Amino acid sequence: MDTENATEQINGKFKGKDILSLDQFSSKDIQILFSAVKKMKNIAVNSKPSKLLQGKIITLLFYEPSSRTFGSFSAAVKRLGGQTIAVQDPQRVSSVAKGETLEDTIRVFESYCDAIVIRHPEKGKVKAAADAAFFIPVINGGDGVGEHPTQALYDLYTIYEKFKTLENLTLLIAGDLLNGRTVHSLLKGLSLFKRNTVYLLSPSQLRLSRDDFFTFSNKGLKLIEIESTKDIPKNAHVWYWTRVQKERFTNMKLYEKVKNRFILTPQLIKDYGNKNMILMHPLPRIEEIAKDVDTDPRAVYLRSQIRNGMYVRMALLALILGKSVKNKR
Ligand code: NCD
Repeated sequence: MDTENATEQINGKFKGKDILSLDQFSSKDIQILFSAVKKMKNIAVNSKPSKLLQGKIITLLFYEPSSRTFGSFSAAVKRLGGQTIAVQDPQRVSSVAKGETLEDTIRVFESYCDAIVIRHPEKGKVKAAADAAFFIPVINGGDGVGEHPTQALYDLYTIYEKFKTLENLTLLIAGDLLNGRTVHSLLKGLSLFKRNTVYLLSPSQLRLSRDDFFTFSNKGLKLIEIESTKDIPKNAHVWYWTRVQKERFTNMKLYEKVKNRFILTPQLIKDYGNKNMILMHPLPRIEEIAKDVDTDPRAVYLRSQIRNGMYVRMALLALILGKSVKNKR
C-alpha cells in the first residue's frame, strides 16, 4: 500500500499493512501472529470449511520460479475460503512481455483483488510494487537477495514450536549467507529476541555482507563466523542449512567451486549434533543435505517446517485482511 513509509512498523496492527521485511516486526508482533497459528492449524488439519477469507481474492504474482511459496500461499488462501489469481512467470505470459512496467501491472491487479503476493528477482522491487499499490497490501514472497519475510516467520514459528521460546538459543546457519534471502530475514527475526547466538558457516566468498554482519551484531545478536565444520558447536538447538544460490552467480566456475563445500550428512550430525536439536532448510535442497538425513527424526525440513509455512501464511493473510483470529477458549 502506498504509505509514506511502506516499511511501516506493524506495532500490533496488521490490518492493511504491507509485509516487506522482518524490520517491521517487534517480538510482540511475532507473538500476535503465532497466537493465531493454532486456529489455522486446526482448520487445515481437520479440513474444516472456513469462511474467513470468503469473498477475498489474492493475486500471486511470481516473477521468479517458486514451488513452496506459491503453493503454500495458494493453499493458505483456499483453506480460508478465499480465491487466487495466479500469475507465474509474468515476463512470459502477461503484458509484462509487451513491456508493461511493474507499477502498471500492480495498479491493474489491485483493481481486481484484496492483496498481492509478489516474488521478484531484484532486491527492492517488491517495495517498489508496494509503493505503486494505492489501496491494497503487498506481501514480499522473496525479492532477489533481499528478504523473504514470510519464510522467516514460519522458520521462527518452527523453532518456537520446538523450544517454546525464541530467546537464549544457539543456531548454526550454513551455506550461502551472502545471497540467501531467507537467512537475511531469519537473522533479523532472531535479533528481535534476547541472547541468541548464531554460528555462521560458509565459504569465505559467501559470508554475510559486512553491512548485515554489523547491523545484526549491533542489534545484540551474537554472530560467530566459522569456515570449517570442525568449529560447529555441539550444543546448537538448530542447524539451518541453505542452498548455494546458483541464480545469483555470474561466475559459474566459482559456483561449482563452492556449491558443495558444506554438505549435511548423518556423520556430521553424529560428530557435532545433539539429541534435542532440529535440522531445518528452507528448500529446495539440491545436494547440500544428503538424502539419508531425511529419515532422521530431528529433520523437520520436509515435515513440520513446510506445514507451518501454510499455517503461518494463513494467519498472516487473515490478520492483514482484518479478520479476527482470536482462539476461542
Ligand atoms: C527459498 C527462496 O526462494 O529464497 N525458497 C523458498 O521460498 N522456500 C530458498 C531458496 O530458494 O534457496
